[in-house]
Amino acid sequence: MTTELGGKTALMTGAGRGIGAAIATGLARAGADVVLIARTAEQLDETADTIRSAVPGSSVRVEHGDLTDLERRTAILHTLRSAGHIDILINNAATVEPLGATAQIAPEAVQAAFEINVVVPFAMTAAVVPGMVDAGWGRVVNISSSVAGHPASMISGNVYAATKAAIEAHSRNLAAELAGTGVTVNAYRPGGVDTAMQGWIRGQDPQRIGSRLRDRFISRYEAGDLISAHESAARLLDHLLGADANTTGAIWNLGDTITA
Ligand SMILES: NC(=O)c1ccc[n+]([C@@H]2O[C@H](COP(=O)([O-])OP(=O)(O)OC[C@H]3O[C@@H](n4cnc5c(N)ncnc54)[C@H](OP(=O)(O)O)[C@@H]3O)[C@@H](O)[C@H]2O)c1
Repeated sequence: MTTELGGKTALMTGAGRGIGAAIATGLARAGADVVLIARTAEQLDETADTIRSAVPGSSVRVEHGDLTDLERRTAILHTLRSAGHIDILINNAATVEPLGATAQIAPEAVQAAFEINVVVPFAMTAAVVPGMVDAGWGRVVNISSSVAGHPASMISGNVYAATKAAIEAHSRNLAAELAGTGVTVNAYRPGGVDTAMQGWIRGQDPQRIGSRLRDRFISRYEAGDLISAHESAARLLDHLLGADANTTGAIWNLGDTITA
């Protein structure tokens, strides 16, 4: 077990499954205490159990709740603040919905996507960055998507593309704002990863989300092009712990193919 992050506490949103669960496990293997957040308590408990067996003696804390619920988010942040300092924040929780022709998308659905994909990362970051600045060290990573670099390539995913472009602009802007403080901010495009999010897209009605989009996700899956969440997480950990450990304002791009 490595201990590069020994003594650090990492807050991981969307840690119940998929990429978030794998990154949380990677952070714990690197020695960090981890705090896991998502809505589904059973999935969080599963991630916590996996981490405890993979990293005996690790410190794992679970907070379940909908991060778009202001009251619940405030309560979680209050509890975490009382428990101690957050050194690493990975904003990973997101939705790929709504999918479909832009003219068919209700403004409320656009707002809901921006809430979890953009507003929540802003809010989580705003809550923990002052403590990181005071400590002179902190790491914020926003999980993006390669669609942010190629927005025209995910037809029927207009809202998702817009949220991921927004989170990348936010990351770069905040990195510039915090330059010299010891707090770095980067975005990570995790590649095409075999997760529930990808499975959900493949299972949708092609009439509703557009057959081009659905067929592309199915053919990438059938071609075996998707990587595992653990492979993707390992690449992010390579950035965080390796030559890029002090890099800020970067868009770390695992693959340049369009995924989700
Ligand atoms: N999979 C890919 O190929 C791919 C490609 C590019 C980018 N990404 C990005 O990678 C990240 C993770 O994707 P994934 O594929 O692992 O997705 P996933 O399997 O759907 O997992 C998403 C996680 O976020 C949590 N979450 C969602 N809404 C939440 C909310 N309102 N409050 C709290 N937690 C919430 C989910 O748990 P609950 O539902 O229990 O809350 C779950 O733990 C996302 O930012 C995604 O956009 C994925």
